[in-house]
Amino acid sequence: MTGRLDERTAMITGAASGIAATSARMFAEEGAQVVLADLDHAGAEEVARSIRDKGGAAIALRLDVTKADSWREAFQSALTRFARVDVLMNCAGLLFVAPIEDTSVQEFDRLVAVNLKGVFLGCRAAVEHMKQRDGDLPWASIINVSSTAGMIGTANTTLYTMTKGGVRVLSKSVAVEVAERGLHIRCNSLHPGSTETAMFDQNLAQRGMTREAHKQMSKTRNLIGRIGQAEEIASGALFLASDESRFMTGTELVMDGGYSAR
Ligand SMILES: NC(=O)c1ccc[n+]([C@@H]2O[C@H](COP(=O)([O-])OP(=O)(O)OC[C@H]3O[C@@H](n4cnc5c(N)ncnc54)[C@H](O)[C@@H]3O)[C@@H](O)[C@H]2O)c1
Repeated sequence: MTGRLDERTAMITGAASGIAATSARMFAEEGAQVVLADLDHAGAEEVARSIRDKGGAAIALRLDVTKADSWREAFQSALTRFARVDVLMNCAGLLFVAPIEDTSVQEFDRLVAVNLKGVFLGCRAAVEHMKQRDGDLPWASIINVSSTAGMIGTANTTLYTMTKGGVRVLSKSVAVEVAERGLHIRCNSLHPGSTETAMFDQNLAQRGMTREAHKQMSKTRNLIGRIGQAEEIASGALFLASDESRFMTGTELVMDGGYSAR
């Protein structure tokens, strides 16, 4: 049986949880060898073990996306196990919800470090590695997970929207730069709407909102009438990782149940 990611190695950050963990499982089911990277090494290892138990190839690494040295070590470790990295999915992220006047400089630094610097360092490390790839191979793919919050403004999320908007344009600039240098690397951003994960629970807690109230709101706010599931977002990541998206670079894939259409 052939898979959509046969003979590919994908490194995925934030892979102990949520969208990234689900993507890692889905990528492995499609034949990829996966490197699960997270600050939470034990959590990433648990997901990696579940993939290996089903016959897949997976390793877990401790990665702090905010540290350049940690990225260097992560690529070194991945490359001692697998021949190359074909796909990098930058998915680690943090949310912070508060009115702007209650948003501290410490929170600013914390969100920028993970959501923006982390993605920049990931793209930098990936390009450094991927620029050496054999020209006969399919193009490498970098997938940067942004959000609908990276496309439109929302209340009480200045830091989050600012970082996610940055990820959107960072992705375009990387795509343009590598293409102009003749490198076979694609780079796109993925924009989920509200998706049922640990971050969604945190969002509800920070807004003091119940699940039921959010469900009611989503019925009218999202054209599809509900929030997303991690599998639905992971299917978009799989598309961007695979050659099915080979004519796509420097652009956005929005998966938000129609939330941003209005
Ligand atoms: N869930 C949503 O509603 C939603 C909507 C739009 C966009 N997103 C984006 O999708 C991505 C994944 O979100 P999720 O809902 O799966 O989140 P999640 O909270 O389930 O997982 C986030 C993961 O990131 C890891 N992480 C945090 N800081 C890190 C660091 N410094 N280094 C390495 N790993 C670190 C955490 O350990 C965790 O495993 C995020 O970038 C998020 O902003 C989520």
